[in-house]
Amino acid sequence: MTEKKEIYQQAIKQAKRTISWATLLIVVAVIFTIQLTYFPRFFSAPNENISALDTSAIDPMLATMNLNPDEIENGIHIPTGLIVDDGVDQVIMTCGACHSLDLVTQNKADRKGWKDIIVWMQETQGLWDLGEKEEVILTYLAKNYAPVDEGRRRNIEIIDWYEL
Ligand code: HEC
Repeated sequence: MTEKKEIYQQAIKQAKRTISWATLLIVVAVIFTIQLTYFPRFFSAPNENISALDTSAIDPMLATMNLNPDEIENGIHIPTGLIVDDGVDQVIMTCGACHSLDLVTQNKADRKGWKDIIVWMQETQGLWDLGEKEEVILTYLAKNYAPVDEGRRRNIEIIDWYEL
């Protein structure tokens, strides 16, 4: 009788152990599934694009803009109306920050004239120091938005006045 009882108790112990392991396994599997479903990045390799995104989040002005080739027609960047040339991305990002870029496309000046406009905005309109970007921007403006008689400007076909 006691021997039978011992065997019986042994069997119960064994069953309990099996159930414990099975429960543990199920819990781990459930956690793993939840993790994969809701936090897939936890298991995936680091995304290369993340560092690029982070940089632009820290300073959007630092990121270089890639103009969509579909948006360029006859050398004009259609969404802004700017002539596509070296530095156009800097002009879009810097000069488009406060006002319409129509202010750029509707003005013409030589290098000194553009420099004066920038200084005027810095003194009265809260424009920041452009640092080394100023050189690129001034070169772009003086080349592409020069006074008419220098003959570098493209013909204006549509005069579309900006709204203030
Ligand atoms: C900090 C904001 C700010 C930034 C950035 C800025 N501007 Fe301006 N700008 C102004 C304001 C404000 C005016 C006056 C707008 C108005 O008259 O409605 C102005 C006016 C102008 C005008 C018209 C000047 C006139 O004689 O009436 C031109 C041209 C111009 N900006 C060009 C530029 C260029 C080029 C850049 C990039 C280098 C630039 N802006 C960046 C604030 C800014």
